[in-house]
Amino acid sequence: MTAKILEGKAFAAQIKAEAGKQVEALKTQGVLPGLAVVIVGENPASKVYVRNKHKACETLGIYSEVIEMPADTTKEVLMAKIDALNVNKRIHGILVQLPLPQQIAAYESEILDRIDPRKDVDGFHPVNVGRLVTGQPALVPCTPAGCIRMLELAGIPMDGAHAVIIGRSNIVGKPMLHLLLKKNATVTLCHSHTKNLQEITRQADILVAAIGKPYFVTADMVKPGATVIDVGINRIAPKKLAGDVDFENVKEVAGAITPVPGGVGLLTIAMLMQNTVAAAKMQLKQEEYGKYES
Ligand code: GUN
Repeated sequence: MTAKILEGKAFAAQIKAEAGKQVEALKTQGVLPGLAVVIVGENPASKVYVRNKHKACETLGIYSEVIEMPADTTKEVLMAKIDALNVNKRIHGILVQLPLPQQIAAYESEILDRIDPRKDVDGFHPVNVGRLVTGQPALVPCTPAGCIRMLELAGIPMDGAHAVIIGRSNIVGKPMLHLLLKKNATVTLCHSHTKNLQEITRQADILVAAIGKPYFVTADMVKPGATVIDVGINRIAPKKLAGDVDFENVKEVAGAITPVPGGVGLLTIAMLMQNTVAAAKMQLKQEEYGKYES
């Protein structure tokens, strides 16, 4: 059996189209959703990501500001910029591109926590993390949110499925656990200290690989017919990317599989657009409540 290939492009187009419709609806209510992306330094990969985010905003009619700050920017200067964006009425979403340069990398949590949780379109703020864990409406990290939306659009059942995640990062593994739980999956979260990993992964109806090691998931770790989602992006040569899954062999066992590149990576920006629209809607609603109370 050869697996169905879940191409990110078609799903991303659908998610962006949905976001575009919501942008139009917000405009009729007098709101132009706005996203600010802050990039500190000259990391080439980050520059490409930021350019793609800006382009996606332009395509959907979202107001976009890219704030480029020099590599030697101090924590205080960056925080002051975030403070200004927090009170800027044109901006509904704020994203600080990671990784930060070395001299401020140690303050990453402090810097990200400075973002107003209502504008935290990355979903990294502890308020949003807490809201996700307790099942309240939240801004959710874009990559795992994109994986869930893709599973929905592909008609892959999550309710009652056994989902196994490999990797416990704050950006992918942990939020994925809670999102799948919300969909009534039975979830197992595996990591570098997990014993008998293969025994566990072979039980998965849905297997999510978010490890950061090229070709880590091999065909003998996958149950025949399972859905395999590869979140890994590993640069194995100057112009070659590889996922965390041994795609060529696993696709002969799995029922459905995402490729790298061209898989869930494309959904991240689409979900960022969705989060920006969601943030703008939420802020509009709050303003309306405010008017009621006064
Ligand atoms: N760098 C790579 N991925 C991400 C992401 O999802 N958010 C931010 N802020 N930076 C990143």
